[in-house]
Amino acid sequence: AQTPVKVTVTGAAGQIGYALLFRIASGQLLGADVPVKLSLLEIPQAVKAAEGTAMELDDCAFPLLSGIEITDDPNVAFDGANVALLVGAMPRKAGMERGDLLEANGGIFGPQGKAINDHAADDIRVLVVGNPANTNALIAQQHAPDVPAERFTAMTRLDHNRALSQLAAKLQVPVTEIKKMTIWGNHSATQYPDLFHAEVGGKIAAELVDEAWLRDTFIPTVAKRGAAIIDARGASSAASAANAAIDHVFDWVNGTEWTSAAIPSDGSYGVPEGIISSFPVASRDGKWEIIQGLEIDAFSRERIDASVRELTEERDAVRALGLI
Ligand code: NAI
Repeated sequence: AQTPVKVTVTGAAGQIGYALLFRIASGQLLGADVPVKLSLLEIPQAVKAAEGTAMELDDCAFPLLSGIEITDDPNVAFDGANVALLVGAMPRKAGMERGDLLEANGGIFGPQGKAINDHAADDIRVLVVGNPANTNALIAQQHAPDVPAERFTAMTRLDHNRALSQLAAKLQVPVTEIKKMTIWGNHSATQYPDLFHAEVGGKIAAELVDEAWLRDTFIPTVAKRGAAIIDARGASSAASAANAAIDHVFDWVNGTEWTSAAIPSDGSYGVPEGIISSFPVASRDGKWEIIQGLEIDAFSRERIDASVRELTEERDAVRALGLI
């Protein structure tokens, strides 16, 4: 029998955790023939709730689930981990300054990065979901000097999927007809969903919609969808976020021709090297590659630059705070 893949999920007792764990255990993260072992990391106050979720996982009798471990110790949780989904984070509370938010998250993602560095398996792949995701991923990466830098990624796949669904609804086409969608930059309100390279039935998407819709409806709807969900549901996106995390890791491991992911920049498209920014990416042999050679017009350039500027400011702020 195949050795099970160890998947560590932080924030396992939270709402994304509840939507995510069952899908991992059912085989959707890695493939329907890959056995998994789950490790659930929580803060001490939430360990009991994580145990409750583990009881429900047991009750599913998933054929691929070979074991569950629950802990509040990152050194245990990441020991031998092959995939780490860093979901638990410190949310912004009313009146919290950006510096306070970054500092609180530095206190989570720094130690987790170090624990990954010291204990994870050689093939560890990390996806950061907890916000501010790109910068949290950078913090974790900077505490893991022995892990190849490109194994640290942040999630913009939910934004990507939101962009697909908004465009499909506008053009009245199935999402499967849309190719080459791209989210650039930060997973924040400055992100840039790009229709100038997206294709629908072989035509450039930006040419199939009017400019006012693209600029004044499409971009802000995708970028502010998280807030719209909170407004409607009274709680933040959870099932769709979990779904996007599944998509990201599945494609990373199994390959894809084109999607969006926040990965460390190699300087492509003028994005400063080292910043963890969303790009159009392909995955081959278990590695993300930035899709090269796209022409960037002035409209796109301005928006990519604005989002990347926000990322460099976040990086400079965590540097100034001594978090990296
Ligand atoms: P939640 O509040 O329901 O759950 C978070 C869980 O993390 C809690 O159970 C908490 O105890 C745990 N936690 C906190 N600190 C921890 C630590 N140091 N170690 C382990 N666990 C810890 O939140 P929810 O809805 O599950 O969201 C989680 C994060 O995902 C948030 O930061 C949210 O902003 C982010 N998010 C990101 C998205 C993206 O597209 N990148 C989309 C949606 C949410």
